[in-house]
Amino acid sequence: MSESRASLPDRTWWRSAVLYQIYPRSFADSDGDGIGDLAGIAAHLDHLRGAPDALNVDGIWLSPIYPSPQKDFGYDISDYCAIDPAYGNLRTFDLLVAEAHRRGLKVLLDLVPGHTSDQHPWFQAARRSRDDPHRELYIWADPAPDGGAPNNWTAAFGGSAWQLEERTGQYYLHSFYPEQPDLNWRTPQTHERMADVVRFWLARGVDGFRVDAIDRSMKDALLRENPPAVPGYLTPFMASGDQLHVWNKNRPETVDVVRSIRAAATAARADVMLLGEAYLPVEILGRYLGTPEQPVFDLAFDFTFIATPWDADEMRVTIEGPEAHLPAHGWPCRALSNHDNPRHGTRFGARALRPAAVLLLTLRGTPVLYMGEEIGMLDVPPPAGIRFDRFGRDACRTPMQWSSEAGGGFTGASPWLPLGDIATVNAQDQRPDPRSLLSLYRELLRLRHASAALSTGTFRSIDLPAGSGAVAYLREADGERLVVIVSFRSEPVQVDLRRAARGRLGASGAVVLSTVPERGAGDPVDLAAVSLAPDEALIVELQAR
Ligand code: NOJ
Ligand code: MG
Repeated sequence: MSESRASLPDRTWWRSAVLYQIYPRSFADSDGDGIGDLAGIAAHLDHLRGAPDALNVDGIWLSPIYPSPQKDFGYDISDYCAIDPAYGNLRTFDLLVAEAHRRGLKVLLDLVPGHTSDQHPWFQAARRSRDDPHRELYIWADPAPDGGAPNNWTAAFGGSAWQLEERTGQYYLHSFYPEQPDLNWRTPQTHERMADVVRFWLARGVDGFRVDAIDRSMKDALLRENPPAVPGYLTPFMASGDQLHVWNKNRPETVDVVRSIRAAATAARADVMLLGEAYLPVEILGRYLGTPEQPVFDLAFDFTFIATPWDADEMRVTIEGPEAHLPAHGWPCRALSNHDNPRHGTRFGARALRPAAVLLLTLRGTPVLYMGEEIGMLDVPPPAGIRFDRFGRDACRTPMQWSSEAGGGFTGASPWLPLGDIATVNAQDQRPDPRSLLSLYRELLRLRHASAALSTGTFRSIDLPAGSGAVAYLREADGERLVVIVSFRSEPVQVDLRRAARGRLGASGAVVLSTVPERGAGDPVDLAAVSLAPDEALIVELQAR
């Protein structure tokens, strides 16, 4: 009897998936301490999947939930194989995974291979003496002849990347905060320990990992000095402050770090999914996807998307980037917002929330939503004098706005960060309202899941003249042909798609979805003169060929 194909694990489920990032501290507080927790997440899964009015995402990525002194809110880990008591324990974690899986939601954890907390027992041991066996887990160097830092490398959060450890007279390297000493991936010890971590969580049922800051995981063994930045060259991602990060970012050996993580992960679970975080130009990302025979990451965020302003001509270059530069088997991955950057409703202005949702959810590739964007949450700057993140990222990390009641439905107590405008922006009010942003997201997800063209079809840019104020593209699969047109202007825009596509699209189509109420599903569209309302985005179905 031949094996049933349906019983084989689907190794590329993530291609047609929509992922959702949860910042656990700010999603839902179940125990009244003002801090989100795992039981809170489990209690709010109906919002994401399983309920008739759920968004219907396919997977969640949880930012770090491990024990941490919270200097970098979980990205400074003091124990990789446990849960921070503020969030719960391994039992509540298992319950959350079971509840997610029951609904068909995949669960991705955040793997932080680049650095630990300075409170991690490995570092506590390593810093005590040069002879300690843990010493080689970190990167140590003698002071420069003048007693200063060993070289000129700067940390991602500013200042020197080196910190003097007085007791042993050497500096340790930290690519982020000084409380986050970098792990040394040149020793097999680090590979083995991280493999243990990967196995630990896969055995508990997680489906994959978002892998943190991979571009900083390897540095030059000779610690060569970075050259000065050249204005406009490899910016914004390879330069910061006054230097080009030639020797402490995106080293060729970095791919070996990912391969090591992948080897451990796939040995434990063949269909594991690895999503890489690397702030790199899209021209370089392909290296991190490997080959079909030897994949590295399955997906890697294209952050040029997050770095592009709400401008049609600039966005066109950005959305064509992965199409031009990823390898043929590569699959783009984009987010508009995350816990490290101002929310896109704040960056672009709230008027762009609807067309931006259409853009994100109709491009080729796996979209990653950041909790709260589906209801149009904006940045909430904390009051003067309150600052949790020294680098200034608190405003995009404020609690999820579930309802307009006191505590925003997030907490019964006082939230750790202030709530935004819960009276006008909250999930409870938007859920039953067919005109709400939440309903638009839900509808876009429904369309995407129902359409092979949108979820896995080909992408082809339509060549609108520069200055049109809109972008347009064709998504196609099995005879299904959809054109997406997104306006970037708050005044009316008219485009001639017939001419731009040189007749390839035919003369007319029918509306599938519009972000403005004046246009309804089924309305005819004359492709030679598409009049877009201010801030309108439109999906049009063409006649099958
Ligand atoms: C990227 C994470 O997204 C960010 O929040 C963190 O500060 C750095 N990596 C360091 O882990
Ligand atoms: Mg709590």
